[in-house]
Amino acid sequence: MKVVSVVGARPEFIQAAPVSRALRPRHQEVLVHTGQHYDYQMSALFFQELGLPAPDYNLEVGSGPHGQQTGEILARMERVLMDERPDWVLVRGDTNSTLAGALAAAKLHVPVGHIEAGLRSFNRWMPEEINRIVADHVADLLFCPTPTAVSNLAAEGILQGVHLVGDVMYEAILHNLSLAEARSQVLARLGLVPHGYLLLTVHRAENTDIWENLRAILAALDRLEEPVIFLVHPRTRKRLREMGWQPGPAVHMVEPQGYFDTLMLEKNARLLLTDSGGMQKEVYCLG
Ligand code: UD1
Ligand code: UDP
Repeated sequence: MKVVSVVGARPEFIQAAPVSRALRPRHQEVLVHTGQHYDYQMSALFFQELGLPAPDYNLEVGSGPHGQQTGEILARMERVLMDERPDWVLVRGDTNSTLAGALAAAKLHVPVGHIEAGLRSFNRWMPEEINRIVADHVADLLFCPTPTAVSNLAAEGILQGVHLVGDVMYEAILHNLSLAEARSQVLARLGLVPHGYLLLTVHRAENTDIWENLRAILAALDRLEEPVIFLVHPRTRKRLREMGWQPGPAVHMVEPQGYFDTLMLEKNARLLLTDSGGMQKEVYCLG
């Protein structure tokens, strides 16, 4: 079978690797990068580290408001699907790339598989909630990470094509943890000792675009005395610059890190402070 696999944002690259490894020996995978994330540290770095095959297409949509970004992916994706005529389209997660990939396929009557199906925050203010609900409702195969995800789908009347398969981000950890332990120098590079620092990420729209929410997070951060390693997402860096915020002495702002370094930072942190869906899961998996 020919499967078009859609990726666009950081966690999707990390999730793509275990799936590609399983898929490629038996099927033809055409990898489409929408270009939603494009900085070296948000994109190419993960292809290198994880040994992901180079994308067959890069739609190069870049950043923009939701309608524009989603619409551009939809239009460009449609052309790829008309040329490639795949048997399946595979999307993952809940980004604008997920939504547009799923819609483009469904409109062309190409069956859609959704990895990480059935997750819900029950908060429709979040762009991700809209993306995952729509993707699930146009999907033909729904790969659920947990029994809760299966029951969330059942509550919305989705009973066909639902499979409880476990979590591909967990599989990514299983595959990469020993490599990360062998290769990562991040603790030495940042002068850290295990359990001697807190790890922080913030990038969710409701935490960065609503200034009073971001200010409240920063005010709390300023009260911390333990060293904080702040992995600054480009979206957040932009907001902090606009605000003119300067970190206090305990806060060490660093660029987004690679996956191996991030796993090691998570494993050795005393505490993770985050709004990242993926990182919440990872620290749980890492114990
Ligand atoms: C997106 C996903 C979010 C996911 C996150 C993973 C949507 C709606 N949101 O959020 O679910 O958790 O990716 O990290 O799809 N930017 C750069 N360089 C880049 C990428 C982004 O500078 O390589 C900046 C741009 O100013 C851009 C902003 O970050 O406007 C936001 O990027 P975007 O992809 O729209 O949303 P994320 O916050 O990354
Ligand atoms: N991650 C990374 N470098 C960083 C921050 C996160 O490699 O500087 C990884 C992290 O280990 C996890 C994924 O990116 O696998 C989570 O992505 P993100 O927080 O951007 O999105 P979310 O999971 O919230 O959708």
